[in-house]
Amino acid sequence: MTLPLPPGPKGRAIRHFWERLHNNADFFARLQAEYGGIVYLSMPFRKLCVIFDHDLIREALVEKRASFEQGPGYKRATFLGGPTVLTADGDEHKRRRKLVQPSFHKQALQAYAEAMIEETGRLQRGWRDGQTIDLAQTTTATALNIAARTFFGADSGIDPGLVAEALKGIFWDFKLSQLPFNRYLARLPLPQNRQAQAALHALDREIDAIIDQALDGSQERSDLISHLVRAKDEGGVDRSLNRAEVRDEAYIILMAGHETTANAMAWMFYCLDQHPAVRERLEREIDEVLGGRRPNLADYDRLVYARAVFDETVRLFPPVYYVGRQAVEDCTLGDYRIPKGTALQPCLMAPLRDERFFAEAGGFKPERWLEGNDHPRLALSAFGLGVHKCVGEAFARMEAVFMLAAIVPRWRLSAVSSQPPVADSLVVYQFPRRFQMSVRARAAVAP
Ligand code: HEM
Repeated sequence: MTLPLPPGPKGRAIRHFWERLHNNADFFARLQAEYGGIVYLSMPFRKLCVIFDHDLIREALVEKRASFEQGPGYKRATFLGGPTVLTADGDEHKRRRKLVQPSFHKQALQAYAEAMIEETGRLQRGWRDGQTIDLAQTTTATALNIAARTFFGADSGIDPGLVAEALKGIFWDFKLSQLPFNRYLARLPLPQNRQAQAALHALDREIDAIIDQALDGSQERSDLISHLVRAKDEGGVDRSLNRAEVRDEAYIILMAGHETTANAMAWMFYCLDQHPAVRERLEREIDEVLGGRRPNLADYDRLVYARAVFDETVRLFPPVYYVGRQAVEDCTLGDYRIPKGTALQPCLMAPLRDERFFAEAGGFKPERWLEGNDHPRLALSAFGLGVHKCVGEAFARMEAVFMLAAIVPRWRLSAVSSQPPVADSLVVYQFPRRFQMSVRARAAVAP
């Protein structure tokens, strides 16, 4: 007996395309409300299956992962010379994952922590009581400075502006990769193409310089690029990443890690403003642990509630709220047939906001993540599920906690407008630009 396709609207490919462009998160919510845990629909030139049900997401990402490869979006990007940890499948992914993972081990993170503490501390040094800041711009700039320092090393003196320009180029190329004939479009003499190429070439030169230093071995280096250069898997030296592979991995890690963390931190400060009892508890914890001094690495473990605040933020506002796959063969999910070539988008946000797994799922309740509390046993998190689960999770958590440790002792941020921020949700769940927060010195406002 042939299984049916998942339920879903018939035809209307162009309309679906526009609805996604307009507000993808709302579009997903409407599909889920109307059709349930799995939906099959038409998009221009392809069929799309969106999954909201936790068990079906697990089936796709874990049990039947061999039937699905990484989505075509990243694979088509022209700024990459070849596969990377995020875009590779099967054995190629396994090899890359083994080589990339040591760059995020405890010892590596310890060195990055110092850069995070310094950059988050520097961020607020120029603030004045009563000024306003663009929240997303502030967290994005901080994440960028941290990426520049941790990827290239404190001594490289790299200009974060250069990294920002390269990222702009990467995101431009990524946008083109969503269109047909993107390889030709990327070669047209458009100003954006020229800027992207110039920025990427400039960053390539910096990466080359770091690779040379890491290879000559005369210095003790603890930056991420040097970790990638020195990484060896069990196969031995000949299977290390070559120069071009190091460059591609550095770019993909930069792309995967920068926007995600910047957005998570912006949502986190917004949530704290909306929930004064949480903010006050957090202030008490940070005041007690730090007692007015500069944070250090050991404080990360002590700031238990701060970590819970971050966990709760990314539960409610997971920056990567859906992931992309493509069926490489005819297969099944639950009681449904999925034809070869179908694009698959498991929506990570749906189970994270599901009342069956999280009591008062719409509320902001960091307590649920504290030990001893009845915190959910979901396999899935905002950091994904299965072999492609985020490799930078510990990096992101550390960055967010040190950001709280830098700001919360001195400042309270409050939204200037009472209108809630509306996410731009086309690719990630992005905190809106130009959302202003006023900065008040705690000494001036705290009881
Ligand atoms: C709040 C911050 C972050 C969130 C929510 C997040 C989320 C995710 C998710 C959901 C995936 C799985 C993608 C998939 O299944 O296709 C992923 C993969 C990945 N993330 Fe993150 N991420 C964050 C921060 C970071 C950071 C800071 C880095 C590095 C500095 C990073 C590097 C990566 C890489 C390299 C992958 C690909 C792993 C693989 O395919 O094996 N991420 N991330």
